[in-house]
Amino acid sequence: MNSFASRIDAIKAAHLYRALRTLSTPQGRDVVIDGQRVLLFSSNSYLGLNTNAYICREAIGAVEEFGVGSGGSRLVTGNMTPHMRLEAAVAQFKGSEAALAFTSGYTANVGVISSLCHKDAVIFSDALNHASIIDGCRLARGQTVVYAHNDLDDLLRRVREIRPRQGFIVTDSVFSMDGDLARLPELADMAREYGLTLVVDDAHATGVLGATGRGSLEHFGLSHEDVPVVTGTLSKAVPSEGGFVCGSRDLCDLIRNTARSFIFTTAPSPSTVAAAVAGLAYIAAHPELVEQLQGNVAYFVERLNRTGMDIHGQSPIVPIMVGDEAKAAQAAEALLALGVFAPCIRYPTVPRGMARLRLTVMATHTREDLDYAATCLKKALAAV
Ligand SMILES: Cc1ncc(COP(=O)(O)O)c(C=O)c1O
Repeated sequence: MNSFASRIDAIKAAHLYRALRTLSTPQGRDVVIDGQRVLLFSSNSYLGLNTNAYICREAIGAVEEFGVGSGGSRLVTGNMTPHMRLEAAVAQFKGSEAALAFTSGYTANVGVISSLCHKDAVIFSDALNHASIIDGCRLARGQTVVYAHNDLDDLLRRVREIRPRQGFIVTDSVFSMDGDLARLPELADMAREYGLTLVVDDAHATGVLGATGRGSLEHFGLSHEDVPVVTGTLSKAVPSEGGFVCGSRDLCDLIRNTARSFIFTTAPSPSTVAAAVAGLAYIAAHPELVEQLQGNVAYFVERLNRTGMDIHGQSPIVPIMVGDEAKAAQAAEALLALGVFAPCIRYPTVPRGMARLRLTVMATHTREDLDYAATCLKKALAAV
């Protein structure tokens, strides 16, 4: 047997094999997936804006005006008016002095962290940070110290031990697989006291947290002085693709000049960028959509608790812990058979033995959808 096939067999034997599922309809509260119509409980499109008429028209308009593709990297030839509009729109939406756009949230985190953290600096990184932060830390020239998830005592102990001359605390604001929130006000206090720079990834908070969806700073009443570096994505509540960093003009200028994942890649397509600009404008004009999402989250969490599950969610990401990888995969299949799609999340995305179903709530789910998903979830878990 060749080595590719034997490695695949080992992955299958550990119940960690992944296959692609294919949607033949747009992202929405219900979709056709591998030929089966199901309720979608796995999308990061939290506000359900992927088929929004205004946003789609703006993207089509950009194709008509600029064509497809951008023809080069931002610093060489690919920078077009839509990119400049996007950076102004992100800065305005996030309330920062400036913003810099990337092709994805992944490249934003990798670029920002690796270029900020030079060889004498130390990064304190939460154990459950997203893979893009972990990869940014791996590329950074400085030392990375991982602290226990959301454990500020552990972080404080490590900071006091090392007392770096220059240091960063890096954290997701909403943790992508657990759905819980970082303790940002306390992290900001600690960063101030020890002269560290707080870097927050707002990927799952933008368009989601805060009364008008501006993200974790709005939710916690913090400013960009408290959190000087905020990264994020335009692929979740904002229904496009792309990533960003926002903060001071100097920060963005530095990243523009040093982040390899900004410099050495082709600029995003004008249509993608126009969709992101329109998405931000739409969310800003429709805070009721954010309120609807937050109402659905509260309803769903309460509904699951009534079925006997112990869930404490504040975000649209609702993990249902199973533990065993094989059982979690079976539960996901049972749920799908009942017409609800929510993937099973396993190692290496989460630690071994901590497999789970990861459900995500959308603003466009009806209360009946949420009730149906809760009932099916109970049945699916009972079946394994
Ligand atoms: C917390 C977090 N940061 C960054 C990313 C990467 O964003 P993107 O999909 O735009 O690359 C994701 C997920 O995709 C995420 O969950």
